[in-house]
Amino acid sequence: MKDIVVSGVRPTGKQHLGNYYGAVTNFVKMQYEYSNAYFFVADLHSLTTHPNPENLSLNVKQTLIEYLACGLDPDKCTLYVQSDVPQISELYLIFNMLAYLGELEKVPTFKEKVRDNPNNINAGLLTYPVLMAVDILIHNAKKVPVGKDQMQHIEMTRNFGNRFNHIYKVDYFSEPHGFYYGEAPVSVPSLDGIGKMSKSKGENTCIYLADEPDAIRKKVMKATTDNGPTEPNQPKNEAIENIFNLMKIVSAPETLNAFDEAYNNCNIRYGDMKKQIADDMIEFLKPIRENIERFKNDDTLLQKVRNQGKEKAIESASKTLKDVREIIGLK
Ligand code: TRP
Repeated sequence: MKDIVVSGVRPTGKQHLGNYYGAVTNFVKMQYEYSNAYFFVADLHSLTTHPNPENLSLNVKQTLIEYLACGLDPDKCTLYVQSDVPQISELYLIFNMLAYLGELEKVPTFKEKVRDNPNNINAGLLTYPVLMAVDILIHNAKKVPVGKDQMQHIEMTRNFGNRFNHIYKVDYFSEPHGFYYGEAPVSVPSLDGIGKMSKSKGENTCIYLADEPDAIRKKVMKATTDNGPTEPNQPKNEAIENIFNLMKIVSAPETLNAFDEAYNNCNIRYGDMKKQIADDMIEFLKPIRENIERFKNDDTLLQKVRNQGKEKAIESASKTLKDVREIIGLK
């Protein structure tokens, strides 16, 4: 398909199953369906939290490695690091002139960050949606595979693009939309029985793509359950619902059905269920983990991939920037 696709992830370190099912699998699928797909590591976005420089570069590398390990193919898509494309920073400056303080202050993710980090409310945090809009508009993308929490940012991207068109009386930027396969984005439950998998809830609540089998088994066996149903067909509480959802993601439908039946007949053994989940997860993650190990030791290949992505991304970004400069009178 012709539609241009863009998405990015912040390099927060190792990716977990939630990142995998929420983002990476979709990217892998889209690279085959869309001839123009851009996926990048959003390292500039990370600067809002002042990461330690060493960690930042290691995390960028780890993210690239894991993207490749999951099947992103640098010949099928453009895989790059945001800061390798200086045109993004220049367009960001220009778009900051189009974004109003009032609308930025109202963004829920900004308000959350202000609440959670009162000691680091920097301007970059406020203009985070502007940078994200530029990431998307710089390739004039139409489809943006992201989670639900990012939809507001996509809406702002449309607003900024439309505003540019309106102020400069052009029809330059098209409207991007959030995208996911199926009816709703897949959400991977946390091992602590509450909500979805998230790094912020602690190492033991997440399964990382790079986890060794032993670590996976340990964590899954400790997942929160309850004392078991006391009457047939008892409604499941959140923790039990979560463990079933986890099984649904990694195990065969017959396996899931068997445990569901056992639950409804009050003879479920959560220990057996978790063992099955751990086995299926280990099996599923095996090739990815092996790929991660392989890429980790191949700096030459990584550098080549990074350069290739940089070149392709710059080609598209510099064309947009050149047009924009001309439209706004920076000639
Ligand atoms: N804000 C996104 C997140 O936190 C990451 C991101 C940055 C992004 N720029 C983007 C996603 C552009 C899609 C398109 O997950």
